[in-house]
Amino acid sequence: MSNFWNDLPHGFTILAPMEGVTDVVFRQVVARAGRPNVFFTEFTNVSSFASEKGRHDALERLDIAGKTSKIVSESPNLESPIVAQIWGKNPEHFAETASHLEKLGFDGLDINMGCPDRHVNKAGGGAAMIKTPDLAIECIKRAKESTSLPVSVKTRLGFTFCNEYEEWIPLLLGQHLVALTVHLRTRKEMSKVPAHYDLIPEIIKMRDNIAPETKLIINGDIRDLAQAQELSEKYPGVDGFMIGRGVFANPYCFTHHQPTRAELQELFLYHLDLFDARAKELKSRGSRYPYEPIKHFIKIYFSGFDGAAELRNKLMMCKNTDDLRAEIKKTE
Ligand SMILES: Cc1cc2nc3c(=O)[nH]c(=O)nc-3n(C[C@H](O)[C@H](O)[C@H](O)COP(=O)(O)O)c2cc1C
Repeated sequence: MSNFWNDLPHGFTILAPMEGVTDVVFRQVVARAGRPNVFFTEFTNVSSFASEKGRHDALERLDIAGKTSKIVSESPNLESPIVAQIWGKNPEHFAETASHLEKLGFDGLDINMGCPDRHVNKAGGGAAMIKTPDLAIECIKRAKESTSLPVSVKTRLGFTFCNEYEEWIPLLLGQHLVALTVHLRTRKEMSKVPAHYDLIPEIIKMRDNIAPETKLIINGDIRDLAQAQELSEKYPGVDGFMIGRGVFANPYCFTHHQPTRAELQELFLYHLDLFDARAKELKSRGSRYPYEPIKHFIKIYFSGFDGAAELRNKLMMCKNTDDLRAEIKKTE
């Protein structure tokens, strides 16, 4: 199995995994606006995947456009390379999930060791792994043994204190991962304080000393490609930059393009078409793609112009995608 991480340009960009956001539909929207170098799925629980009851839902989360999902046929490689992100705490379930991902069409596998969600942490996963390093290592080992896909980890500086990174990051680097993404905050800090860019040089040094082959990816508060390029110049030891909430401010954030209102509206209509196609696809599989969550996306497309708030209020009242289209048509 080839390791796509080695083929990326220096200073590559990644669309961050975001639960409830970066599903197969939204990844296609971002790809249309301007693609990053790498896509991540939202995270999937390994114990769900390993159970008969949870497998169906887990597989839906792991759908890839043009492969396991047919929603986009025009360009099957639109969301490639794509990395499946998984979480949990049971090493055997990591092994079982990892062994399936290649067959589903993924290019890589990433283990979440940074999620701050209370339920995830109570279940021993995400950032809670920082507090159970032996188990974390076991999970990485079992995943690596069970797949020929390149295995990476995404984590935070620590659970409670920033200086936990002094032990935690070297421990992870010791696993000789293909890539390590560091969200430059602790679990306790959530996203409430600015990312600790001041620690980047120290983390680069650790990577250079322990695992020079591991790609180092930085995450936290990076708005767009321009900022990623600035950071790349300042910290040439960083290989790549992951952007999450930047797509909410500008879905074209992986380009230098500042979209017009008309372009954003057109992108929203594309999003609606994909939404309908996905709903149809899931219905044919006996499943559902609920309407309400699409409302979380409205602000992305309709902000920063006179009357935007008023239009958003009207769109929020709509009950289906046809109503949304009709409301938008009235503005033309
Ligand atoms: C709505 C939302 C969902 C998220 N879901 C995940 C997830 O499934 N896996 C993960 O590793 N991080 C998840 N994150 C964290 C992001 O990947 C990223 O680390 C964080 O937002 C900081 O980067 P940013 O400042 O570029 O947004 C999520 C963040 C948000 C806002």
